Amino acid sequence: MCGIVGYTGNNKCINLLYDGLEKLEYRGYDSAGISFIEPSGIKTIKTQGKLSNLKPLLEKTPSGSSCGIGHTRWATHGKPSVENAHPHTSGKITLVHNGIIENYSELKNQLAGMSRTLSSETDTEIIAHFIDINLEKGKTPLDAIHDTLNLIRGTWALAILIDGYPDQIWCAKNQSPLIIGAGEDEYFIASDIPAIMPNTRNVIFMEDGDIAHIAPTEISFYDIHLKTVRRVSQTIQWNGVTAEKGGYRHFMLKEIFEQPRCILDTVSSRISASGNITPENFTLDEKIKKIHIIACGTSYYSGLVGKYMIEELARIPVEVEFSSEFRYRNPIIDSSTLILSISQSGETADTLAAVKEAKKLGAQTLSISNVINSQIPRISDYTLYTHAGPEIGVASTKAFSSQLAALFMIGVYAADIRGTITAERKNQLLYDLKNIPAKMHHILEQSSQIKVIARRYIHSHGFLYIARGMNYPIALEGALKLKEISYIHAEGYPAGEMKHGPIALIDEELPVVSIVTRNNYYNKTMNNLEEVRARGGKIIAIATTGDMETADISTDLFMVPETDPLLEPLLTVIPVQLLAYFISDFKGTDVDQPRNLAKSVTVE
Ligand code: G6P
Repeated sequence: MCGIVGYTGNNKCINLLYDGLEKLEYRGYDSAGISFIEPSGIKTIKTQGKLSNLKPLLEKTPSGSSCGIGHTRWATHGKPSVENAHPHTSGKITLVHNGIIENYSELKNQLAGMSRTLSSETDTEIIAHFIDINLEKGKTPLDAIHDTLNLIRGTWALAILIDGYPDQIWCAKNQSPLIIGAGEDEYFIASDIPAIMPNTRNVIFMEDGDIAHIAPTEISFYDIHLKTVRRVSQTIQWNGVTAEKGGYRHFMLKEIFEQPRCILDTVSSRISASGNITPENFTLDEKIKKIHIIACGTSYYSGLVGKYMIEELARIPVEVEFSSEFRYRNPIIDSSTLILSISQSGETADTLAAVKEAKKLGAQTLSISNVINSQIPRISDYTLYTHAGPEIGVASTKAFSSQLAALFMIGVYAADIRGTITAERKNQLLYDLKNIPAKMHHILEQSSQIKVIARRYIHSHGFLYIARGMNYPIALEGALKLKEISYIHAEGYPAGEMKHGPIALIDEELPVVSIVTRNNYYNKTMNNLEEVRARGGKIIAIATTGDMETADISTDLFMVPETDPLLEPLLTVIPVQLLAYFISDFKGTDVDQPRNLAKSVTVE
């Protein structure tokens, strides 16, 4: 994780760098720092904690510098502190880094043998030392950087300043994302597109192994053998307005409320007037016998819902696995497997590595991603983009429901070409899908009811979330949302499994969020709710509109409109998102930037 920025051009760089970092804070907020080149040399200002702590320090040191780099950190090696904050300096070198250096201990020992003193606990600082050592040996900056990259193992996106080169920046990339925005006689460097969006739409995506040498009017790229390579810029169509709070108290709340629009945008262009689903260039090869979904975090839970959707509709076996488990366990994959990766950011290190592994094993790869041209789509055979727009809140909401819509479309599409559903059923499913945004609107209009419920439970020390079938992953997602942003312990469980353990937790203190919609599982789940009630637990039920039986047995109740059971998760997820949001807001936690988390996890 971590976000990095850089600028060289004719404008003052400090504010540009700061504004860019603001857009990257979702990648980490343990510390922040900026270095810029002054006539007297390179100056560095850094601080522990959030980027806003840096502002007063920068204001105390006005500068006309037009070349600099910046960083916002998610700590890996070394605690959050000023010493461990980037940029790191050694001799003439000052740099920022996103990634992890795996052979850091070995290199650190080598540096000790060369009487080099480290002033931080980070893996990054050693990179600065080795480049500086190479410069001292008389190597050119390019050779000094290249030879250092040959020494290190791991992942990196680097932006490097060198004393004596007042308007130049060197960059390098291996697995961590790095883009360069091209302006008029100026270049912007960033980990992600939103950081440069206000300044330019012309973006060059660096590739693994690349080194770039950047001056205001000139840019050159080199590959791992130091051969010059050509990297062309692309025009990005993103709408910057969507990356603002737009009057909402938090990005998360805004993003929850954006969900009807996200589903509409994700779905509408893919359903033709004749009622066919056209998932861009993706075609389901006849030889595919199994789909293997890989993802992390919230995206993994959407994968679990996807299994219900795709298996039920297309009758293909679907396995769902955390990317971090998949890649290390020698999975049984061949060309009859479709690897379906799900990643909002398209950059999550474990998912990226798992897709690469699957490709090596000969699998076909389809990705669902929200970020155009991010790394996972770029290496996948096919991509289905969710059109949720930039998601800024660290806890994922609108990306999740958009992924569900994409998975549902894949299910219907696959079922259609495999002939496992009738034309009538397909039409009904698509009709129900098109009606989801309106039903989401209806739920959002009742959000104040959830706020009232949330207020009653702000002092609870733990929550249980239960559900069955396609809503079981929503129980998991609800528990995850609450943990992430309110720091209250919560567990998601299949309602039928409660009797094998979690039932021991139930007493008058324990709120049990229960999704009990009118589907095939209804009667069984109701039995489970009776078991909770018999033990004095408090039932917060999410039920289907008009269900008076559930109203009778629950302590608190929220109703969602009826839809096809396979689409229910798109509706039932909204109350659990809102519950987590309001509880956290009442508790006063940092909803958009919860402690210890980052939105894009580009380390393993
Ligand atoms: C982090 C984020 C989660 C996200 C997960 C996977 O943990 O905090 O919100 O679900 O990464 O991210 P991806 O971008 O691959 O969906």
